[in-house]
Amino acid sequence: MSLPPGFLDELKSRASLSQVVGRKVSWDQRKSNTSKGDMWASCPFHQEKSASFHVDDRKGFYYCFGCHAKGDLFSFVRETENVGFMEAVEILAREAGMQMPARDPKAQEKADRRTLLVDVMEQAVSFFRLQLKTGPATEARDYLVRRGLSDDALTRWEIGFAPNGWQGLWDHLKSKGIEDDLILAAGLAKTSTQGKKPYDTFRNRIMFPIRDARGRAIAFGGRAMDPNDNAKYLNSPETELFDKGRSLYNQGSAREASGNQPLIVAEGYMDVIALGEAGFKATVAPLGTAVTEDQLHLLWRMHDEPIIALDGDKAGLRAAMRVIDLALPLLQAGKALRFCLMPEGMDPDDLIRDQGAGAMQTRLNESLPLVQLLWRRETEGKNFDSPERKATLDRSLREAIRKIQDPSLRRHYGDEINRLRRTLFDGARQANRRFRPRGARFQPPSQPMVETKSSALAAANAAFDEQLKEAVILATLVTHAKLVPEFLSELEWLETLVPEHDAVRRALVSTEGAPLSEIEGICGKPALEKLFQPRHVRISPGVQTDAPTDVAQMTVVEELAKLAARRGARAEIEDAMRDIEGLVDEGLTWRLRQASEGLSDAGKQGREDKAEYDLGPNGARLRRDEKTDFDALIDRIDYSKGGRRG
Ligand code: UTP
Ligand code: MN
Repeated sequence: MSLPPGFLDELKSRASLSQVVGRKVSWDQRKSNTSKGDMWASCPFHQEKSASFHVDDRKGFYYCFGCHAKGDLFSFVRETENVGFMEAVEILAREAGMQMPARDPKAQEKADRRTLLVDVMEQAVSFFRLQLKTGPATEARDYLVRRGLSDDALTRWEIGFAPNGWQGLWDHLKSKGIEDDLILAAGLAKTSTQGKKPYDTFRNRIMFPIRDARGRAIAFGGRAMDPNDNAKYLNSPETELFDKGRSLYNQGSAREASGNQPLIVAEGYMDVIALGEAGFKATVAPLGTAVTEDQLHLLWRMHDEPIIALDGDKAGLRAAMRVIDLALPLLQAGKALRFCLMPEGMDPDDLIRDQGAGAMQTRLNESLPLVQLLWRRETEGKNFDSPERKATLDRSLREAIRKIQDPSLRRHYGDEINRLRRTLFDGARQANRRFRPRGARFQPPSQPMVETKSSALAAANAAFDEQLKEAVILATLVTHAKLVPEFLSELEWLETLVPEHDAVRRALVSTEGAPLSEIEGICGKPALEKLFQPRHVRISPGVQTDAPTDVAQMTVVEELAKLAARRGARAEIEDAMRDIEGLVDEGLTWRLRQASEGLSDAGKQGREDKAEYDLGPNGARLRRDEKTDFDALIDRIDYSKGGRRG
């Protein structure tokens, strides 16, 4: 439908954003200034205690400083009511007392057809409901009783029965004067190949109506009672009304309930019903398919942290893993997932019937954040007794984390995974220590990796070398400030070992390519003097004022890469060192060799030989958090090459 010009402006001027928002939030009275239309509240789009959500009533925009949700009147209604744009306009127009313009004939026709189809579906719901009360449904009723469903529950969930004939529903709908085409298009009957009457899609099945978010009947799920039936559940085919991947069972009621209850995603109809009857009303299920991306977005619109409750079997776990892969690239700050694991061989319905709602609640309380399940997927049932296996684990974890688009979230995932990794390997080390024969502890490595000089001296050398690299990078950029905008993100991430370097780094970031005088104005002359002091810096080709820009640029790129590689390798050595403290194994030598090869690749100058990186027991002076930071730096460099960041 197209709206007449000026309609939306008129609507915007009549409806007040703060009034519409005010129904969903309570304003922070101290922070807000009503007379200026400057309103603050806790954000309705993510969970928080402080009031980071700002409404500028005069401009008609909102913005959350926490989760960065932003938009206007229409997007607010769309997001909070989970409706489309036109529906949002309709809601707001109705409230503002404005007459919606007449729909254009095509759209009207389509809407009319949907209405007709929904009407056919509603008649089918009533028909199946009535059938459940008749004689031929005795077996079905017994079955439902055996499954613990009360009469009230049957009514609440509108459960029905499709009789065992070929045209029971068809004849009923025809007797009401409904066109063949509508019954077929609703997916309730199929055309027969032999030119006979179409036959019912659902026969001899218990029927679960599926309604959309607004409560309109759009499909059915039908369960066979005969365990030998070749389809335990049969669902409506996709129709003009029913898009499987974009619908969820019990969506409408769950959306209402999810305001004050956790949102649970179960696997099946019976689970949703059992959970709902046990008081977990905010429960949905996908419809005979794996969870889709659309469904995840739908879930996140209802709740910031839906809980995926999976059957306690192999299929359930596989489904969880698929959800993880689907969710990783979509995760954002404030939009997360948890996973609730059922006891072996049980689904939520079984658990509740067997052990009651309390047992389910306990499981829900123990639900795991996504990162934990990701960790379990990569580690459970596996043995990391060799460096190759550890390296494989590291790679698969890194690959998973890379899928997260949100940089800050990606970093937090990295930190958490590192923590878990440390627990795993240190735990293994501790276990090994217990069983290690006496005396083995102080045995030197069978193949000493590095001839021992003074390790303290070596570590100091390594640090000094990194300082020089920092200095070359910064000095080159000070000299060729025009290049700064190109390296902004790298500069933002760069960790420096020297305070003066950090001052220069900040000045470069904040001036974004301004000339030397401005940089100096911010970081001060002494910092610059210290930066340019080492002879190595002053003679570096990129630092010469008359150096061509591309030489300067290459210097920065190369030194950044070396620094990143070096710090990555350092973290790897440090890891290996943690192992050596506990146990000497042949894997250690392998890992050290790998790491130190990495180092000699990173620094091409001859003097950077391996011996300098014999960190010895005091390798601990190297900070542990560097690996994540520098992984992140490497990420950034990759990005700029891929052109993903401007
Ligand atoms: P389950 O086999 O776990 O069913 O399938 P359930 O819900 O626990 O059912 P009961 O307890 O045995 O009655 C989970 C969901 O997968 C879809 C259905 O949506 C079902 O609810 N499914 C299952 C099908 O679409 N077809 C099938 O043949 C089986
Ligand atoms: Mn079940």
